[in-house]
Amino acid sequence: MDLAVNSVDKQAIAGAFGRAAAKYDTVAKLQQQTGEYLMKLASAEDIGQQVLDAGCGTGFFSARWKQQGKQVIALDLASGMLNHARQLQVADHYLQGDIEQLGLADNSVDICFSNLAVQWCNDLPCALREFYRVTRPGGLILFSTLAQGSLNELAAAWAQLDSYRHINHFLPWRTITQACQPYRHKVINRQYYQRYPQLLPLLNSLKGIGATHLHHGRQQGLMTKKRLTALAKAYPQDHGFYPLSYQIVFGVIYCDK
Ligand SMILES: C[S@@+](CC[C@H](N)C(=O)[O-])C[C@H]1O[C@@H](n2cnc3c(N)ncnc32)[C@H](O)[C@@H]1O
Repeated sequence: MDLAVNSVDKQAIAGAFGRAAAKYDTVAKLQQQTGEYLMKLASAEDIGQQVLDAGCGTGFFSARWKQQGKQVIALDLASGMLNHARQLQVADHYLQGDIEQLGLADNSVDICFSNLAVQWCNDLPCALREFYRVTRPGGLILFSTLAQGSLNELAAAWAQLDSYRHINHFLPWRTITQACQPYRHKVINRQYYQRYPQLLPLLNSLKGIGATHLHHGRQQGLMTKKRLTALAKAYPQDHGFYPLSYQIVFGVIYCDK
């Protein structure tokens, strides 16, 4: 059985995302699409005023919640991201912290929103327990995460070049749904597909969102011109384009406690 547990270096993750903060919003197109979809999953429900944006990044969605008249707490592990969010004044409160150990009281928010952040956590059930703890009875938890099958084209291309693992381990759909089992919930699986005319912008898009940090350690070797050419040659093409697929799981958890 695939355990919902990773081994992550949180300081390194915070560093990678902090460095990505300035350019993040210009390249985080996937995050914007998944976040909009996640917000729509709540739109039919009038839940309450207090929103926690957990793993807020630059606070793109903190700002979207504020536009809807909510009171927003923006929380992130990376001080670089949080400083950026603070400068943009996207929220009412800013909190540097860890999703797996939230520095918030029980039942203190109405909506806990977390777009593409929990894939960076050690333990998904622990993250969901924390979301459930801080959300009040009758409140709603909305999260999205990357699942197994994401970045498969890139993994396949690297596999032809060396035996080192270049892509993070993403949990299978089944493991993610199992983590939701203790709660009344709904899970939705969607595939997103991007195509790039060249490989370098594809790789830069991953770097730009801070997603090149690996759970199990540092990436091996510099990307030399020779390596890039070899990787491009090994990459499965789609009508002359370099495709990149993402399997995204959206979770809605109802706080019935
Ligand atoms: C891919 S970004 C998504 C940012 C934002 N939610 C969005 O939709 O644009 C993931 C964010 O999660 C943060 N993060 C990763 N692990 C975290 C953790 N354990 N606790 C809090 N934030 C975390 C990262 O620092 C980063 O800002």
